[in-house]
Amino acid sequence: MSTHTAKLSILISGGGSNLAAIISAIAANTLNANIERVIADRDCSGKQHAFNAAIPFTLIERHLSQARFALALEKSLNPDTDLIVLAGFLSIIPATIIDKYPKKIINLHPSLLPKYGGMGMYGMKVHQAVLAAGDSVSGCSVHYVDNGVDTGEVINQARVPVLANDSPQTLQQRIQAQEHPLLVNTIAKLI
Ligand code: GRF
Repeated sequence: MSTHTAKLSILISGGGSNLAAIISAIAANTLNANIERVIADRDCSGKQHAFNAAIPFTLIERHLSQARFALALEKSLNPDTDLIVLAGFLSIIPATIIDKYPKKIINLHPSLLPKYGGMGMYGMKVHQAVLAAGDSVSGCSVHYVDNGVDTGEVINQARVPVLANDSPQTLQQRIQAQEHPLLVNTIAKLI
């Protein structure tokens, strides 16, 4: 593990189980990093993980105008940050931020990209689409964020078999269990 403690910013919109996995890995010394700030685009239960770990937290309402949202996000991010991690973050990252942090923004997506990515493909919708297509395997991906939606270069993936009796919920649960190590390991690899 490198001696440099990497500076992370984590962006969330939901329950924050992936944020919790990152916090645990840091606490267990398997990830040499410090979360400088957790940013949410809505009031979400995931913020509690930041509060419990005494990590600075910022809420930037997604309903702000694009320009205000971009400005608030820019102000909340340390220019020296090593990695910006979208861990279940549902808002689109403004182009100004993407240009400012080349190859420093990664996103977690609950499918084997390029399958089931793009505008409107998030959460349960992904798993419903996988089941409707009759796929025998799904999974999750970590990719760099570019100016498209879920189109950036894939860095790492984990495959999860689809079972005959899967519902979108059971498939989501098994994929989420794989997301946590996938995201933590990918961050460790990149920093
Ligand atoms: C994950 O399933 C992730 O793939 C998707 O949003 C969900 C976030 O879960 N992008 P959590 O908030 O980390 O629990």
